Amino acid sequence: MDIEFVRSRFIKHFDGTTGSVYASPGRINLIGEHTDYNGGFVFPGAVDKGMIIEIKPNGEDKVKAYSIDLKDYVEFGLNEEDAPRASWARYIFGVCREMIKRGVDVKGFNTAFAGDVPLGAGMSSSAALESAYAYAINDLFGENKIDKFELAKVGQATEHNYIGVKCGIMDQFASVFGKEGSLMRLDCRSLEYQYFPFKPEGYRLVLVDSVVKHELASSAYNKRRESCENVVKAIAQKHEGVEFLRDCTLEMLAEVKAEVSEEDYMRAEYVIEEIQRVLDVCAASEAGDYETVGQKMYETHYGMSKKYEVSCEELDFLNDVAFDCGVTGSRVMGGGFGGCTINLVKNELYETFITTAKERFKEKFGRSPKVYDVVISDGSRKLI
Ligand code: GLA
Repeated sequence: MDIEFVRSRFIKHFDGTTGSVYASPGRINLIGEHTDYNGGFVFPGAVDKGMIIEIKPNGEDKVKAYSIDLKDYVEFGLNEEDAPRASWARYIFGVCREMIKRGVDVKGFNTAFAGDVPLGAGMSSSAALESAYAYAINDLFGENKIDKFELAKVGQATEHNYIGVKCGIMDQFASVFGKEGSLMRLDCRSLEYQYFPFKPEGYRLVLVDSVVKHELASSAYNKRRESCENVVKAIAQKHEGVEFLRDCTLEMLAEVKAEVSEEDYMRAEYVIEEIQRVLDVCAASEAGDYETVGQKMYETHYGMSKKYEVSCEELDFLNDVAFDCGVTGSRVMGGGFGGCTINLVKNELYETFITTAKERFKEKFGRSPKVYDVVISDGSRKLI
């Protein structure tokens, strides 16, 4: 996807003039799924696919927005009651509102945008969109007064308040803070983070997209979060200072077994184990021990499939194929309920794995999965 394409659409759709152009990426996550809203760790990186937006103040109090990919045009005002109906436009509206709540004097603008991060593939196309607008609005109307963490929180608050997904901070953080060639370990409780150069010699990271569309908003995500909160409540009655599952051990969980539902118990067990896996994987990856990294990825897949129950038949199948082919690590990536597996593959196995995965998937489900090579790239930025 390129700037010239977005620019040509912007010129054609509006008054022939040009504006400023910004980009924000989607993300991968090596490990640490459903740990962010539990105050735990995540280990994401930004990718070379994302959203490009062109934007220009229009001197009115209206936003005029054009989605190039959907060929859809929407206008909306900037007051709370002006929320547009089209879901893609609600993301932009939500970001405007959240920036206004933070004291930015947002005025009307014309904008067009396009993306090449696949929708619903678990690569956070929505966070890319939110981060791009938060970054641009801060630059155009906010004198860049809002810091990068707050920009990530603007995207997260947009999801909470205007989309209805009670997501954590990982996706927006990764989109804003991404750095070429590095993964980032974020402590979602303290918000401390560290860059880890990730260039696994002899291996490649590849995503295999089941093309099952995940519907995060379909309440299953919010339900998982509630399960975690139920368990925290029970444990906090016995242990002072427990605020998140991050603060809990498996022993503490066992103490409340009789007080929580079986389902909530399983969910919490997965999260507590997963938080530890992130730390183990960071250490292993620093030491160049990719066998351990891979093994932990399989453990995560098992946990997401059997305990957190956010996988699906297609993703379990892709995970099995990876295992059969001798792939070092494989697991469902992102929120789940569809989307991609992320695979750590030895270079010499790459071709065989991809061919086999495509063939066997097609045989079983009658359609081909999509394949994306991962290139770890920079976060939100101004292009022109
Ligand atoms: C979605 C959410 C994130 C995170 C992941 C699961 O991508 O937006 O905050 O919870 O799911 O790790």
